Amino acid sequence: MPFMETPLLSGSDWRAARLRFEDGPRLQDLVMRCSDFHLLIHDELPGAHEAEELLTDLPPGKTAEDKLVLGVETLNGSLMGVMDLVMDYPEKGKLFIGLFLLDPAARGKGWGKAVMMALEDWCRQQGVQKLGLGVLEHNQPARAFWQAIGFIEISRRPPRLFGQREGVVILMEKRMEMAAR
Ligand SMILES: CC(C)(COP(=O)(O)OP(=O)(O)OC[C@H]1O[C@@H](n2cnc3c(N)ncnc32)[C@H](O)[C@@H]1OP(=O)(O)O)[C@@H](O)C(=O)NCCC(=O)NCCS
Repeated sequence: MPFMETPLLSGSDWRAARLRFEDGPRLQDLVMRCSDFHLLIHDELPGAHEAEELLTDLPPGKTAEDKLVLGVETLNGSLMGVMDLVMDYPEKGKLFIGLFLLDPAARGKGWGKAVMMALEDWCRQQGVQKLGLGVLEHNQPARAFWQAIGFIEISRRPPRLFGQREGVVILMEKRMEMAAR
């Protein structure tokens, strides 16, 4: 199921909508403001083409129609976060979160949870059965976040290198309770 309908998510002080190729410069600016995350994962600073890669990278077997990059903005249009979504990956009915990254200034204020709650509502309307993601074992704050909003660990990948740093990816998922049940 490709993204037939773009989720237009919003809250009282934010909104989220699709980022396109022309949003590359402001997405790159966001990624640079989030260097702490890149250092934690890769043990190196973000490169000059991170935004371009984020907007175009696809997992094996998926096409551009399966992918959606959402920008999270304040109501006056400042880009404060990004979420990379892949539909039906790695299995049908699962929406995979490739990345969810907020500007350091926007973290810890409930935005992450609010965006996820809005995304989950959209998933239920669309018949998406599960949300999935991979989080690095050493990214303790993110693991605490995913657990706090109901994701559970389903498996672990063997250690591998991410940039300069070796890491273990923990695969997590959350089942969507359908309204009809
Ligand atoms: C992970 C991230 C998206 C979470 O968004 P956020 O807006 O900071 O999280 P929220 O403020 O909505 O937190 C929701 C709940 O998660 C938990 N939580 C969030 N951050 C936490 C932390 N650093 N330590 C422990 N628990 C945390 C808390 O239970 C929190 O609820 P509470 O504040 O009411 O106790 C954001 O912090 C971020 O962009 N981090 C850097 C990038 C990253 O690691 N992304 C995930 C990659 S897998």
